[in-house]
Amino acid sequence: MEQNIRKVALLGMGTVGGGVYKIIEKQKDQMVCKIGSELEISKILVRNKAKYADKVAPEKLTDQWSEIINDDNIDIIVEVMGGIEPAGTYIKEALLKGKHVVTANKDLMAVQGHELLDIAKANNCDLLFEAAVAGGIPIIRPLKQCLGGNEITEVMGIINGTTNFILTKMTEDGMEFADALQLATDLGYAEADPTADIEGYDAGRKLAILASIAFHSPVTFHDVYTEGISKITAKDIRYAHELGCEIKLLGIAKNIENGIEVKVHPTMIPSSHPLASVKDSFNAVFVHGDAVDDAMFYGRGAGELPTGSAVVGDIIDVARNMQFNCNGRIGCSCYNNIPVKDIGETKSSYYVRMKLEDRAGTLAALAGLFGSNDVSISMLLQKTKQGNTAEVVIVTYDVLEKQFMDSMTVISNMSMVKEVSSIIRVYH
Ligand code: NAP
Ligand code: HSE
Repeated sequence: MEQNIRKVALLGMGTVGGGVYKIIEKQKDQMVCKIGSELEISKILVRNKAKYADKVAPEKLTDQWSEIINDDNIDIIVEVMGGIEPAGTYIKEALLKGKHVVTANKDLMAVQGHELLDIAKANNCDLLFEAAVAGGIPIIRPLKQCLGGNEITEVMGIINGTTNFILTKMTEDGMEFADALQLATDLGYAEADPTADIEGYDAGRKLAILASIAFHSPVTFHDVYTEGISKITAKDIRYAHELGCEIKLLGIAKNIENGIEVKVHPTMIPSSHPLASVKDSFNAVFVHGDAVDDAMFYGRGAGELPTGSAVVGDIIDVARNMQFNCNGRIGCSCYNNIPVKDIGETKSSYYVRMKLEDRAGTLAALAGLFGSNDVSISMLLQKTKQGNTAEVVIVTYDVLEKQFMDSMTVISNMSMVKEVSSIIRVYH
């Protein structure tokens, strides 16, 4: 086999870029056997070169994109700088110049993925992004290749490590949300601005990418309903346990009943479900296909080496494709154009905790109101009583979200209802 050197440029040398650099250095000697060529990181783009001077040879560092895009010896661009711009422009320019691209950028792929994949196809280039979803867990390639013989109807997962860590601390140590978030920040799990994690946006971006691939139909972040975990209390987690459930921030994508459903929200899930036992900052993705049945992928969804592992796997694929002159083999897999449902058109069962006036007829009035809106109650429990206020937990059967929320609007305005404390969707 002809042996040569594949030259790689890293755009970014932060957490992920640093991991990629370390793995490629460590694997240097094996690379020739694995891909039939040497792999060399020849340029690294950063903003502040001085910050990295003790980590890499200074001649590799540049703060000028032009030094990379105009270097015809560079074959593979690895974008691990993050953000929409200038990352998006750099990727487009690289593909238009016939350079292959590997990226970990879910923010970008969740909104511009289809456009970028079209550009890659038009230029016979690879654009691979395994690290963009669930860090080190292989899930994009399994969906596109190993599970290619299936009609996939559901992909669901714990795809944000920060929120899973917080919910685990609330569950196991009885911590309240604010304290668990502080601990996640102190341990370096949560970003300085944790909004994207806490509000479900990070998971929403990953879910959009997963849904597009699983259902062969374009889904972007703007299609995903997102709801975060900041309103979850230790009390709801305790009550969930009493009902045989755990509370997890799930990304749920389904292709059923003439439409795709994509939603990220706190969910009560039976403790017996495999996702219920995924703890701390671990991620897992659960897939249902008509041939494979259920399959689950579990591991580390973030971090220097786990994410670096996924990026390097993609670089190896690009280099192998180059060796056999078959780049662009696996591009965009969307051949459908399935509508995405509004959250109001999706169905779920609901847990509601509320405070009611404790007097004869209150529960009957509540049940009557739900009944007149076709919301069927599967369980009703009076939990505590304080003065003339009773705390009540209700679980409904599956119902259309719009129907349920319309009833809740009326219920929350009834004089006997003192407070609607929480509403959490229940997965069966
Ligand atoms: P990071 O630690 O903040 O590092 C970003 C790097 O990119 C830094 O070296 C920074 O250089 C450089 N950079 C940023 N903007 C630049 C610009 N305009 N021009 C030149 N260099 C620029 O980020 P990260 O955590 O490694 O994340 C990188 C990407 O991977 C993101 O898309 C992220 O969503 C994705 N990802 C991350 C993880 C994870 O565990 N961290 C997991 C999966 C996916 P300076 O220091 O000089 O500014
Ligand atoms: N912030 C993400 C998480 C990691 O907490 O899972 C990067 O995808």
